Amino acid sequence: MRTVLTYGTYDLIHYGHINLLKRAKGLGDFLIVALSSDEFNLLKHKEAYHKFEERKLILESIRYVDLVIPEENWDQKIEDVKKFKVDVFVMGDDWEGKFDFLKDFCEVIYLPRTPDISTSKIKTDLKK
Ligand code: CTP
Repeated sequence: MRTVLTYGTYDLIHYGHINLLKRAKGLGDFLIVALSSDEFNLLKHKEAYHKFEERKLILESIRYVDLVIPEENWDQKIEDVKKFKVDVFVMGDDWEGKFDFLKDFCEVIYLPRTPDISTSKIKTDLKK
């Protein structure tokens, strides 16, 4: 049984998110998504359209996702990896290298992002 963990805001779910989640799940048997809380998003200057509970409800409805936990700060990753006995940590390659410190605890994989789509792009395009 291989447990996979990934982090993100997952606002206005789009096909880039689904591609990431599908490939992440493909790396193991159980996929945990640590979903940024509204408070943590404020700290990151990344206000989501959908509130945490709404984003959680949507993520939990995706077949690749087995468990959603809150992401409250930058420093919880090592604890999460230990607590959930994580085998593989996965992020999109916009984060390449940023979480290599987790290699002491699990496998770390950066997956190529799906080109030409992001939550920010959707927001910008809808304003045009
Ligand atoms: N992701 C991806 N391909 C995309 C967009 C996102 O693989 N085209 C991945 C990110 O690398 C991350 C996860 O999906 O691992 C969640 O990313 P998130 O930041 O929530 O979504 P974005 O669309 O990148 O949001 P924003 O534009 O606000 O940064």
